[in-house]
Amino acid sequence: MKSIRLGVLGSGSGSNFQALLDAIDTGRLNAEVALVMSDVPDARILQRARNRKIPAELIDCGAHATLFPASEQLRVANRLSEAAVDFVCLAGFMRLVKEPLLQAFRGRILNIHPSLLPAFPGLEAWKQAIAAGVKESGCTVHQVDSGMDTGPIVMQERVPVLATDTPESLHARIQEAEHRLYPKAIAWLARSHR
Ligand code: GRF
Repeated sequence: MKSIRLGVLGSGSGSNFQALLDAIDTGRLNAEVALVMSDVPDARILQRARNRKIPAELIDCGAHATLFPASEQLRVANRLSEAAVDFVCLAGFMRLVKEPLLQAFRGRILNIHPSLLPAFPGLEAWKQAIAAGVKESGCTVHQVDSGMDTGPIVMQERVPVLATDTPESLHARIQEAEHRLYPKAIAWLARSHR
């Protein structure tokens, strides 16, 4: 069976990217990472890709701290298309994706978020969960639309919030769940994509 081709966009450590690689290596995900791109030149995700000889490229947002300029989105869309990517996986990518990247890969851009959406969208969702006093949180894989953490939900995994949890301990438990969930959700989507 033909494996799907993934493009991965991230700004940070890339532990979710690593979880995808591990799932590929152990046969849980029939996929190949064709291209990794990051807006942060020294992001560990780029180093992880280079260690695996996976093409790793920079996204240039100029002096903009949070904006992802439309011209750069178009260039990134073209690079992902040239790499014949089937799905684009956001893995800790800290800029909002809009047209024209959305249009080029409509329904095929995924994100992983550290809460049970629609609860706690936005930054540091694990801190939001602790502040709200909920007994349960988790993580969500969803399709990306033009909102922030608002697209159709693909899969979720629940984790308990313990009375003794600090933001750090809860974040660590959610990340463990993310590393299980992202490969599982992509494998499921890939099967329905054929
Ligand atoms: C993850 O917690 C993910 O939910 C959020 O950003 C974080 C990325 O972590 N969107 P990593 O770079 O994959 O380690």
